[in-house]
Amino acid sequence: MSKKIRIGLVGYGKAGKAVANVLSNDLRFELRWIARHSASAEPRNHPDTDTPIIGLEQRSFADLFEAMPVDAVVDFSSRESLHAYGEEVRKRGVALVSAISAYSEDDLDYARSLGRDTRVLCSPNITLGINFLIVAANLLRKAAPFADVNIVEQHFRDKPEISGTARKIAETLEVDEGQITSLRFGGIVGHHEVIFGFPHQTVRLIHDSIRREAFGTGAAFALEHLAGCANGFYTFDDLLLRLMRAELLQ
Ligand SMILES: NC(=O)c1ccc[n+]([C@@H]2O[C@H](COP(=O)([O-])OP(=O)(O)OC[C@H]3O[C@@H](n4cnc5c(N)ncnc54)[C@H](OP(=O)(O)O)[C@@H]3O)[C@@H](O)[C@H]2O)c1
Repeated sequence: MSKKIRIGLVGYGKAGKAVANVLSNDLRFELRWIARHSASAEPRNHPDTDTPIIGLEQRSFADLFEAMPVDAVVDFSSRESLHAYGEEVRKRGVALVSAISAYSEDDLDYARSLGRDTRVLCSPNITLGINFLIVAANLLRKAAPFADVNIVEQHFRDKPEISGTARKIAETLEVDEGQITSLRFGGIVGHHEVIFGFPHQTVRLIHDSIRREAFGTGAAFALEHLAGCANGFYTFDDLLLRLMRAELLQ
């Protein structure tokens, strides 16, 4: 078996905890540490593992990387963290998988600059399923530009705005946001459906989110495939398309 990829996870909130569950149960990875803002009342280790949870109020990234070296950082914290660990990952050639969805253009420019010295992936939507759906829908759109396209998104009752993922799908497929139908009821975690209406057939591509652990599955895919890339700045699409190209060549 090839060597495990050693990982440091930044962020231990709603998403980070679920991602830690996935990464710590995957034999391809060794989750070496988890960093959060403050390590106040919570447990000192991720449940059922030896992975320490470290508060950055007490410790710097430089110190952390020195004491517990890693091959990759996975970020589910906030946009500020990038600037706290950025020069450390650059200096040490540590790969970065960032799921932060709130980066400004300046933050993204900085992340791109890190790509000159290491492998960087930024993905504001990191589930494998949604990214696959977008790639597949885009391909069908190119094959059948004459088909009608509708996007249906369903979420829990209190979600106020149109889902960012539905807007991303509309933007990628170059259809008007008016083609998005939003339904709000009960406790639906997230449902996205792209419907292609042909004259004599209908195609539906559907993705349902079930648990936040899906973010961990996406991060694991990114970590594995980024490991085979040269230094650079990548999106989730880049990795999926790279895989598809390799499959087609076979
Ligand atoms: N790309 C995707 O598909 C995707 C999916 C889910 C979430 N996300 C992103 O992931 C991030 C976290 O989401 P969430 O729902 O888990 O939020 P959350 O529950 O508020 O958790 C945020 C976590 O990040 C830590 N944190 C915040 N700022 C930090 C800093 N400067 N240094 C170190 N740790 C810091 C917090 O530490 P404390 O607990 O000590 O306060 C907390 O553990 C958000 O940016 C969100 O957009 C992306």
